[in-house]
Amino acid sequence: MGGGGVSVPVRITRDLFGLDGKVAIVTGGSRGIGKAAAKGLAVFGADVAILGRSPKTEETVSEIQALGRRAIFIPTDVGDVDQARSGVERVVREFGTVDILVNNAGIASVAPAEEVTPEEWDSIMAVNLRGMFFMAQAVAKVLISQRKPGRIINIGSIYGIVGSEIGASIYHATKGGIVNLTRALACEWARYGILVNCIGPGFIVTDMTQGVREDPGLKRAIENRHALKRFGTPEEIVGAVVFLASDASTFVTGENLFVDGGYTAW
Ligand SMILES: NC(=O)c1ccc[n+]([C@@H]2O[C@H](COP(=O)([O-])OP(=O)(O)OC[C@H]3O[C@@H](n4cnc5c(N)ncnc54)[C@H](O)[C@@H]3O)[C@@H](O)[C@H]2O)c1
Repeated sequence: MGGGGVSVPVRITRDLFGLDGKVAIVTGGSRGIGKAAAKGLAVFGADVAILGRSPKTEETVSEIQALGRRAIFIPTDVGDVDQARSGVERVVREFGTVDILVNNAGIASVAPAEEVTPEEWDSIMAVNLRGMFFMAQAVAKVLISQRKPGRIINIGSIYGIVGSEIGASIYHATKGGIVNLTRALACEWARYGILVNCIGPGFIVTDMTQGVREDPGLKRAIENRHALKRFGTPEEIVGAVVFLASDASTFVTGENLFVDGGYTAW
């Protein structure tokens, strides 16, 4: 219809989800969703650089290397823009390029909204929203300068579109920001062939949700908010990550894909 967009030839083969030869960056891959995502990308063929804070990330790196892929850990606090930028530069020095970013690192705190301090606000914003933006920017600059397409996958949350009384107002604000930041970046960077999407997990069994899972009443109430009446596992996020990283999603951008056991289906 004459819009000037360039279509990408997609072959319907069993390799539709294949990531051979791709280089992925995952932030926060020592455990939880980030670790599962990093391993999942490697299983489908990608080499993986993990930018994170925890030395435990070396375990994820060893597990990926055992799959026969290249993997490196670059100690990085994504809340520090200089560290985020130098981490991406190091990936390009080591691997020559980057194709996929999974913006996963995130933190949460629980406090009634009336007691939240400016310091708490700044620290969560710095990682979840500011860190995510500047990681995306650093990767987009590489893709634009190398004139190649790429994928940016932001890990949002059900709390990007619904509220709760759980006492995580700043977290909700960051995740809501991520949903619409995803749309804005998708629109701006479509001209470079960079597809930007968001995944919105429901409650997943990770360290982040340990506190709520230790309170039987709260755990049951949260389970019951999901149509499937349970928490998900980190492994259940991997299919969406691989989909959004691969040729299976060449016409998907600006999307917020919920992997939430039906939490937002009510
Ligand atoms: N667990 C859930 O129920 C759930 C639900 C929706 C969304 N999410 C989102 O998924 C993502 C991963 O969460 P998770 O449950 O696996 O959490 P987690 O706490 O188990 O893991 C978080 C990871 O991020 C790393 N990290 C934290 N701050 C960092 C920083 N400043 N720089 C670099 N790395 C940092 C940690 O070291 C860790 O590896 C987060 O963005 C979270 O908001 C989680």
